[in-house]
Amino acid sequence: MWRVQLFKLNYDNREAEAVSDVIKSGWITMGEKTKGFENDFARSMGDGVHAAAVSNGTAALHMALLALGIGPGDEVIVPSLTFVADVNVVRIVGAIPVLADCRSFDDWNMDPADIERKISAKTRAVMLVHYAGYPCDMNAITDICRRHNLKLIEDCAHAPGASYNGQACGAIGDIGCFSFFTNKNLSVGEGGMVTTRDEALDREIRYIRSHGMTTLTLDRHKGRAISYDVTRPGLNYRIDEMRAALGIVQLAKLSDANQKRRRIVERYRAELGGTQGLVIPFCSERDGAKSSYHIFPVLLPEQKDRKDVIESMKADGVQTSIHYPAFQEFSAYRDMFGMTPVAQEISRRALTLPLYPEMTEDEVSIVIEAFKKAMG
Ligand SMILES: Cc1ncc(COP(=O)(O)O)c(C=O)c1O
Repeated sequence: MWRVQLFKLNYDNREAEAVSDVIKSGWITMGEKTKGFENDFARSMGDGVHAAAVSNGTAALHMALLALGIGPGDEVIVPSLTFVADVNVVRIVGAIPVLADCRSFDDWNMDPADIERKISAKTRAVMLVHYAGYPCDMNAITDICRRHNLKLIEDCAHAPGASYNGQACGAIGDIGCFSFFTNKNLSVGEGGMVTTRDEALDREIRYIRSHGMTTLTLDRHKGRAISYDVTRPGLNYRIDEMRAALGIVQLAKLSDANQKRRRIVERYRAELGGTQGLVIPFCSERDGAKSSYHIFPVLLPEQKDRKDVIESMKADGVQTSIHYPAFQEFSAYRDMFGMTPVAQEISRRALTLPLYPEMTEDEVSIVIEAFKKAMG
């Protein structure tokens, strides 16, 4: 149906063989592949990082809040422009999400000044998102968290491979949460990772992941344990070996894939940059920041009807998306939040164009032409 899809997997025989090998091995739940994926991922993030693979990114965020002991009555400052999972998990643990606005139309990440304004006596944590893979202003945000004694959770769903001043995103705050959902930079279908430099937090995360139990089925299978203790109430947020095996292959491709994304983004910026009234965010990348170029969002001109642009591009076979609708518009959250004027305006005018590592030059040209046509 589409001439150019929003996203396409960069899978080949390596992924197929990795899954097939797991199936042939006879062990399909958390085991050696999971351990291998965790080790590779931790190593890719630098020395002293622990990584626990989990069933998805939302589970990772939920576990982060549980591990940090955040619950009823606590406030967590979250971005006003993000996927609903961030707000949902805060509500699910009984805490109160408080929105911080975006910095500007050029920088859609959380505004440190607004984070500081939103801090109250009940604030326990900041949950940030490196939107589209562009690192937040981590100097300012870590400084705020230190001064106000707040925990910092990095939602790195968009940011595998991104870094700030040489430190991997996900290893800067207290806990990093990754998603390996189909359309992410590292795709396994459903999967995630929790990262931390804190050994005690890592241990806690591993208990939460598997019912609070001290041993795993694999330990008993290998004869290393005959029973287990339960240290705290936990959940089942485990990953399986097929997905861990996919993760190992995808992680090996990540750096090259992110480079390919960057080249496509540079072409988009060069060829769409002059469009009247259009804002391309994140063009002046923060000093010391390395992006993972997860998506390519633009801010349409104020007077342009977004529906018309989407329909026109659809007629030319180009799929687009919106990242993200405003929380204030959702039935579940309509009455919960005050205004976040910058984010709400971005939500009204944002449009995401196709971006994936294996996009051909021709496909990029099709998108650019269709977009220019839609803009009139
Ligand atoms: C910013 C953000 N946070 C969290 C999630 C949730 O991840 P998952 O779909 O793996 O649960 C996503 C992905 O969909 C996301 O984009």
